[in-house]
Amino acid sequence: MFSIVKILLFITGSCLAFNNKTFPENFKFGVSTSAYQIEGGWNEDGKGVSVWDYITHYKSSFILDHSNGDVACDSYHKLDEDIAMLKHLGVDFYRFSISWSRIIPTGRVNQGVNLAGVNYYRNLLKKLKENNIDAMVTIFHFDPPEQLQAESMFVNGSLNSLFVDYARMAFLLFGKDVKYWVTFNEPRGVCCDFLERFSLQPGRDSYTCTHNIIKCHAQVYRMYDEEFRADYGGSVGIVLNTNWDEPASDKQADIDAAERKLQFEFAWYADPIIHGDYPELMKKRIKQFTLPFMPDRLPKFTEDEKKYIKGTADFLGVNHYASSYVSDKPDFGLFRTFEKDVGILMTYDPAWNTTSLDWFRVTPFGMRKILNWVHKNYKIPLIITENGYVDGTGDLNDDGRINYLQSYLSNVLDAMYIDKVDVIGYSTWSLMDNWEWTSGYTQKFGLYYVNFSSPNTERIPKKSVSYYKKVVESHCVVDECE
Ligand code: GAL
Repeated sequence: MFSIVKILLFITGSCLAFNNKTFPENFKFGVSTSAYQIEGGWNEDGKGVSVWDYITHYKSSFILDHSNGDVACDSYHKLDEDIAMLKHLGVDFYRFSISWSRIIPTGRVNQGVNLAGVNYYRNLLKKLKENNIDAMVTIFHFDPPEQLQAESMFVNGSLNSLFVDYARMAFLLFGKDVKYWVTFNEPRGVCCDFLERFSLQPGRDSYTCTHNIIKCHAQVYRMYDEEFRADYGGSVGIVLNTNWDEPASDKQADIDAAERKLQFEFAWYADPIIHGDYPELMKKRIKQFTLPFMPDRLPKFTEDEKKYIKGTADFLGVNHYASSYVSDKPDFGLFRTFEKDVGILMTYDPAWNTTSLDWFRVTPFGMRKILNWVHKNYKIPLIITENGYVDGTGDLNDDGRINYLQSYLSNVLDAMYIDKVDVIGYSTWSLMDNWEWTSGYTQKFGLYYVNFSSPNTERIPKKSVSYYKKVVESHCVVDECE
């Protein structure tokens, strides 16, 4: 009997064991979206064709439900409704992205700027300001103009100057109203997940693509510093995504594999930007798998470049959703891909809850661990720029999302108060259900449900709206904080 009571107490205790500290007064809460996923208006008022307009129209078999973002949440026409939701939630900031082809239809500034597109973002920024909501603007969230053939231009480096022109135009047009700029969202997604699949030189192109993106990021940061910071006083960062990678066993090979995955995925970008060069572990490992007479696959920064790139972030944006177990997967074959260079196997604990996406696991402990790992390596203010719960139904009674938010935020508090990690903001993905890339409309991450089958794309608050609103207001994840 005694042991049953003890077990019951343990179970209840562990369910209730949320951190009851209050987030600091100056901690910022937000919600995130991106242009292609919500705007619609894909060919309106002079907008150019983006790479996703092209893929969804001409290669729709890549999209699970063959859908597209032609209308999506129709945010292009529903600015006031979007603002009303943000106001209701009471968030401190709104993270959204600019569609490059909406403001510069061909991607090249010297071929013309689209005033109607500019006005859409100006209006959005004006309304955010009227409601005291800061703007966090992502310059590149996966949707470059199709004409540019950006993937290959990232590999040969020719996109950099066009991107810098575009970013300068964004700073000129919107800079006075933007508090946080993000140069790139999840650049690894562009260089690996997408490019590696279609590349003629896998295992080489993704490294070159990353090399150019890092240089491009640094150029944009320096430009803001030199030309705009004094007038506008904003900050500039980059958003990187990562799982927490837990070693699958206490074998040294698995411990090394888990660290290697973090190094190849996160440090690959963060090390140059914060410390000036690629991680030693990566350099050694790639060299080890390159024959002596073959050229290096990982490009090198010159000493001048290292100095120029080092320190080009005022904050790091971290997108984090889930964790995995990682074990070593040796592969000594000569034909190398990025994946083979990393050389790991990912698995999941059957006890970890999952929902509708294969990589998604509810693993709140991973939030605290990844924040610690990032802090240990970079010592820079962190903003959690994406974190959220997915289901396939868009259920209005989304207790699963409430539990997820509560347990992950509780781990953010642990990281801040117990481990002294410098986290300054948190933004959940996403304000509303939207078009989820190759999953189309089959996956729902929103606090608000969106009725995609109605011409009015009505938004309806899910139960999690009241929970998140309360957290934003009280800075507390439980009923009452200390
Ligand atoms: C991120 C991406 C977002 C969103 C989210 C949910 O990788 O930046 O655009 O799709 O994942 O899967």
